[in-house]
Amino acid sequence: MKKNILITGGAGFIGSHVVRLFVNKYPDYHIYNLDSLTYAGNLENIKDIEKAPNYTFLKADIKDINQMNTLFKTHQFDAVIHLAAESHVDRSIKDPNAFIETNVLGTANLLNAFRNTWQDNYTDKLFYHVSTDEVYGSLGKTGLFEETTSYDPQSPYAASKASSDHMVRSFGNTYGLPFVISNCSNNYGANQFPEKLIPLFINNIQNGKALPVYGDGQYTRDWLFVDDHAKAIDTIFHQSELGETYNIGGFNEWTNLDLIKILCELMDEKLQKPKGDSAKLITYVKDRAGHDRRYAIDATKLNKDLGWYPSVTFEEGLSKTIDWYLENTKWLDNVTSGSYQDYYKKMYS
Ligand code: NAD
Ligand code: DAU
Repeated sequence: MKKNILITGGAGFIGSHVVRLFVNKYPDYHIYNLDSLTYAGNLENIKDIEKAPNYTFLKADIKDINQMNTLFKTHQFDAVIHLAAESHVDRSIKDPNAFIETNVLGTANLLNAFRNTWQDNYTDKLFYHVSTDEVYGSLGKTGLFEETTSYDPQSPYAASKASSDHMVRSFGNTYGLPFVISNCSNNYGANQFPEKLIPLFINNIQNGKALPVYGDGQYTRDWLFVDDHAKAIDTIFHQSELGETYNIGGFNEWTNLDLIKILCELMDEKLQKPKGDSAKLITYVKDRAGHDRRYAIDATKLNKDLGWYPSVTFEEGLSKTIDWYLENTKWLDNVTSGSYQDYYKKMYS
């Protein structure tokens, strides 16, 4: 059946992988990629599919309710996969309101536009909200985030995403709007903006710059290769019952310091530098305010109910990721020129 699917944030990191997967895998769907092209959005990320007959790019801002109502009325989106967001914790510490405006208000605008279009008659319709494990707060040394874990967001970014999750559930409960939500752990892979740990460190090693490790470096994250996140979204989109929540994670916990050491070793090998050269760049810097100590996802429900499991090992994924950045220096140069330099100075000097 022909379906009009709206993917928001499809010029960003994860969104571009989701858009590509859906455009290539589902020729019967028409994929609309809505993105306002903030500093994190980049049409180069999806250049390979821009001419596909089942693909349309819409430059628009989810903060603008009138724009959303018009686009929904024109294109009658049967389903929404909502990824557009302000996504970087450090930026949320500097400017929380930008996160409230896009992540909370922007999500509410999409929900309202969806309702206005379908007038609460939702046969074969779906609103899929893509969220984060950060809504659950921080773990101690043991334990895992489950779908039933209470929300306890700690950063303005996490609070804005938690709030958007609540808005989605409230529209489900109040108006019968059909939704699913997934909460995923840290992603890595091609096309990630070099403000996040892995691409920032790859870029700095290439340029012989310091590797700024926050605090004692013993913070723990659960890493998932971005293609596996896109596949999980595809699985949940097509197979989940309405109103469900799924956690998505890599079964792959690392302290920052252990991860950075492996990254440095791989970079030494790939750049043919003497062993230990990249690690010399490690520099301990002031900690992130309110830094969450540990995230770890229990993705058993997604595995048991829908059969999803990560397909890429961390060693494979990291190696592929580094290769992508080394082969795409033009992409990296483009996104690290201009305003990135100001951001970097403000953040790290
Ligand atoms: P990203 O910052 O790389 O991309 C965000 C995209 O949204 C960009 O293309 C940007 O231009 C667009 N955007 C931002 N504000 C917009 C607005 N007002 N209107 C329209 N478009 C706008 O983010 P990402 O890392 O790809 O994350 C995508 C989604 O996945 C987010 O909702 C994030 O919370 C969630 N998530 C990310 C991770 C991760 O590790 N990166 C993990 C779990 C969940
Ligand atoms: O858990 C999912 C979340 O993962 C997503 O919802 C967010 O959008 C995504 O940005 C990510 O958040 P983190 O804050 O965990 O990712 P980040 O790459 O910013 O940092 C990872 C860890 O590395 C964290 O403990 C902070 C640390 N770090 C980060 C940077 C940028 C450093 O030590 N130095 C740095 O320069």
